[in-house]
Amino acid sequence: MKILGIESSCDETAAAVVEDGRKVLSNIIATSLEEHKLYGGVVPEIASRRHAESISGVVNEALAQAECTMADIDAIAVTYAPGLIGALLVGVNFAKGLALATDTPLVPVHHLRGHIASNYISGDVQPPFLCLVVSGGHSHIVAVNSYTDFEIIGKTRDDAAGEALDKAGRTMGLEYPGGVSIDRISPQGNENAYTFPKPKVTGCPYDFSFSGLKTAVINTVHNARQKGEEISIADLAASFQKSVIDCLITNLERVAVEKNYDKIVIAGGVSANSKLRAEAEKMCKRHKWSLNIPQLKYCGDNAAMIAAQGYYEFVDGVTADESLNAYATMPIDKNYKTI
Ligand code: KG4
Ligand code: ZN
Repeated sequence: MKILGIESSCDETAAAVVEDGRKVLSNIIATSLEEHKLYGGVVPEIASRRHAESISGVVNEALAQAECTMADIDAIAVTYAPGLIGALLVGVNFAKGLALATDTPLVPVHHLRGHIASNYISGDVQPPFLCLVVSGGHSHIVAVNSYTDFEIIGKTRDDAAGEALDKAGRTMGLEYPGGVSIDRISPQGNENAYTFPKPKVTGCPYDFSFSGLKTAVINTVHNARQKGEEISIADLAASFQKSVIDCLITNLERVAVEKNYDKIVIAGGVSANSKLRAEAEKMCKRHKWSLNIPQLKYCGDNAAMIAAQGYYEFVDGVTADESLNAYATMPIDKNYKTI
């Protein structure tokens, strides 16, 4: 079964064709990242305009590279939530029009479910497993009970890990996205040069909090600047990265031990982080757990992961008609059928 995936939730306009949820036939991405760098973050209006300009060409290219026409496509999977609403609407409306014009089933896909599915196109992993999903907008520990049954075990109370890295990077004067820059500069620094307070979270012991850490690093930079002190950005970046990754790994390990998981999966933009990948590997080796991490090319936003998840949603009977809407927020455990 061939699924055409369409993704436009942030600054990537992407389309892909994936066979049976696993085999990527094409994966095309156009991005407006360079324009957003000027502003230190994604400007929603610019992202939406670029999606509108690019989407038609990107979808055509995805079909052409997969050597398909719409007649070969069994379903169109599109990201409908969560994300920037104006950006999402471009993909959703394009997919609706294409589905209607070609009489092809339309499958709504949750963006974070798509990130988890980036592991299905990267390796041979099947649910059930425990997944750490870390992106620019979300940080979750999720029990993936089946391809379409998700349970949130822990989540961030405030900032997402990627968001904290991006804001910290900006304060350090690093290029957007800060997460990527911090990862790049950290090997040049001493990760023990600065110590940041370990966030305390009351209530659910598996939840995260990153806003205190973010404030601590911002205060460190501002204090040094006010006093005219030299600061090593490489040391600060490495130390901050270590603190963020420590929080993620500590909670992931705790959940896995307490809930008896031996199959660990990581997903989302931050899964590209070299420190996170290394620490996750060490943890899994220590416990003899299996570990799946997406190939680097599938860590960031792409449509192959949406087509992969779309396949499993479609097999589960999840389809939408032309009333499909886009949503800026949507819990990962909420099934489209019950919205
Ligand atoms: O999943 P994603 O591409 O978009 C969202 O769904 O949010 O994630 C983007 C986030 C950004 O915060 C970016 O800084 C972070 O992923 N990121 C990284 C790395 N690559 C991307 N963070 C740390 N290290 C990286 N190598
Ligand atoms: Zn994403």
